[in-house]
Amino acid sequence: MERDIFRLAENVYWVGVRDWNRRLFDALIPLPKGTSYNAYLILGGGKALIDTVNPGFEKDLEEKIRVITSLEELDYIIMNHAEPDHAGAIPYIMERAPKAKLVATSRGAKMAQVYYHVPQERIKVVRENEAISLGDKTLLFIEAPMLHWPETMFTYLKEDGILFSCDFFGAHLAGGVYSDEVEDLLVHAQRYWGEIMMPFRSMAQRALEKIARLDIRVIAPSHGPIHRKPELILDAYKRWAVGETRQKAVIAYVSMWGSTDTMVKQIAETLMAEGIELAIHNLNVADIGDLAKDLVDSKAIILGAPTVLGGAHPLAVYATYLFKALRPPTEFAVILGSYGWGGGALRQIQELLKDFEVEVVGALEINGPPTKEDIKKIVELGKFLASKIKS
Ligand SMILES: Cc1cc2nc3c(=O)[nH]c(=O)nc-3n(C[C@H](O)[C@H](O)[C@H](O)COP(=O)(O)O)c2cc1C
Ligand SMILES: [Fe+2]
Ligand SMILES: [Fe+2]
Repeated sequence: MERDIFRLAENVYWVGVRDWNRRLFDALIPLPKGTSYNAYLILGGGKALIDTVNPGFEKDLEEKIRVITSLEELDYIIMNHAEPDHAGAIPYIMERAPKAKLVATSRGAKMAQVYYHVPQERIKVVRENEAISLGDKTLLFIEAPMLHWPETMFTYLKEDGILFSCDFFGAHLAGGVYSDEVEDLLVHAQRYWGEIMMPFRSMAQRALEKIARLDIRVIAPSHGPIHRKPELILDAYKRWAVGETRQKAVIAYVSMWGSTDTMVKQIAETLMAEGIELAIHNLNVADIGDLAKDLVDSKAIILGAPTVLGGAHPLAVYATYLFKALRPPTEFAVILGSYGWGGGALRQIQELLKDFEVEVVGALEINGPPTKEDIKKIVELGKFLASKIKS
């Protein structure tokens, strides 16, 4: 085919688009490898499109569909999720597919009206486990609330054992067709989990239980490659959802004049000498997607924050806020920082962590650059943290 279209099964096609050059998502998450917006076409007796694409790619989607069938013949547009990266082309496609009904959860139906002005009479609300028959293909709908929006659902194509899981099981990768062909797939999937799904671990566990009863041969997410060996990503998701951690610590820090830098580098050395796996993120240059990825399986976090204007450096406040929002399974925290006169960084970070279920096992705020005595204290603290991590 001239266009980038591929067949997943008999009469099931990927008609998504690849956004090679996108570098930021949700005005927050860096996309080092771009992303894809996966849409799928299923042709039974009836015809259904599963999800659409990001605004700006409407015509690409239309052209790809038209290679296979005409839009006028579409019976259903399945909206697994209302976020614009998948639902943004719904108005464009619905205008050109006069017969098509939008299929969504009841929450999805409301969002389709609010975001995309889809008239009520063109929406078909589906409930948990409801099925739509396309003749020789049957679509089953499974609610997946808060993965990662309230209206989210999965669509399961019974006859072919394909689970269209929307953002769940996704990865921000523009390239790649099948996940088993992508060398660093799990790294990207873990990063994606950390950014998008980690805050909803209990909902993820529930969804994993629900889909365990299905015969899943292929998982077709809405970003990144398709999983035709679904065990790999399912195993990873099971581990991440229960919050399985490694003997690993992540350091997120900022330093203006090098004092906090010296402190965190010392604790890093001590931890490594104790056999603890380590990831260091200097917030000046850090990719927060990488930080999110490391939070997925770290047992401890070390926050390094010098004092600026009576409180913590704004980048450290940002990192602490993000840490709380992402709700990683981290058990232990250490706070390190340097100040010039009155201090205040430590107090502020402690305040921010107060209502968060992480045990602060040590905190040290020193005046100016660390002295030999300070270094000794940091080594002790590092050893203590290592013992906690190993316990
Ligand atoms: C812009 C700026 C604002 C600062 N504000 C404070 C402050 O309000 N209170 C304080 O104790 N120290 C303040 N300091 C001093 C730093 O906290 C101190 O130099 C510290 O050792 C810096 O650690 P670092 O080398 O890790 O950046 C300020 C420094 C700068 C550059
Ligand atoms: Fe989303
Ligand atoms: Fe998405």
